[in-house]
Amino acid sequence: MPELLSIRPMVRDDLEAVVAIERRAFSHPWSRKLYEDALSSYQCHVLEQQGRHLGHVVMQYIFDEAHLLNIVVAVEQQGRGLGRRLLEFALEQARQRSSVSCFLEVRESNRAAYALYERYGFNEIDRRRNYYPTTEGHEDALVMVCTLADEWMLIQG
Ligand SMILES: CC(C)(COP(=O)(O)OP(=O)(O)OC[C@H]1O[C@@H](n2cnc3c(N)ncnc32)[C@H](O)[C@@H]1OP(=O)(O)O)[C@@H](O)C(=O)NCCC(=O)NCCS
Repeated sequence: MPELLSIRPMVRDDLEAVVAIERRAFSHPWSRKLYEDALSSYQCHVLEQQGRHLGHVVMQYIFDEAHLLNIVVAVEQQGRGLGRRLLEFALEQARQRSSVSCFLEVRESNRAAYALYERYGFNEIDRRRNYYPTTEGHEDALVMVCTLADEWMLIQG
């Protein structure tokens, strides 16, 4: 299967599949309108296999910082290494844009995503109290960052 996977820029025609995956994967999914805006404001990519949409990732770049805004794998495809594949792609894109670090926010309860991020060198640096809505109220966001630049680049400034 891995050799048949490809990652390409998201286009407007993808939004139906994107939103369908999103709705099944999240309790509070991004809306179609949010994705329409994201297409013009951020870097959005889809992971697919022979035209079948398996997941997507959204990145924002602010000066030398990359921000991972969203990463999703279709529920029935989770646990097969596709999240790793998408995250590796996103971090490689960030490196190619000379980003020195990548930031993200994750729900405190989202242990699968937290474990994925830790595996790729993200460290927890902050907590935003009651940042995310839940069905019962709110929960904290954990802010994580990983360093992308090689040590010699940081030393040379
Ligand atoms: C988080 C998400 C993208 C991971 O994608 P995935 O394809 O399921 O993950 P992978 O199979 O590539 O696993 C990568 C690593 O994630 C972690 N992980 C994945 N599922 C996990 C689970 N159920 N419990 C704990 N850790 C888990 C592990 O560290 C795993 O590495 P390992 O296989 O060596 O143990 C996916 O679960 C998802 O789409 N979740 C819903 C949306 C979401 O929460 N996105 C993150 C928003 S911040």
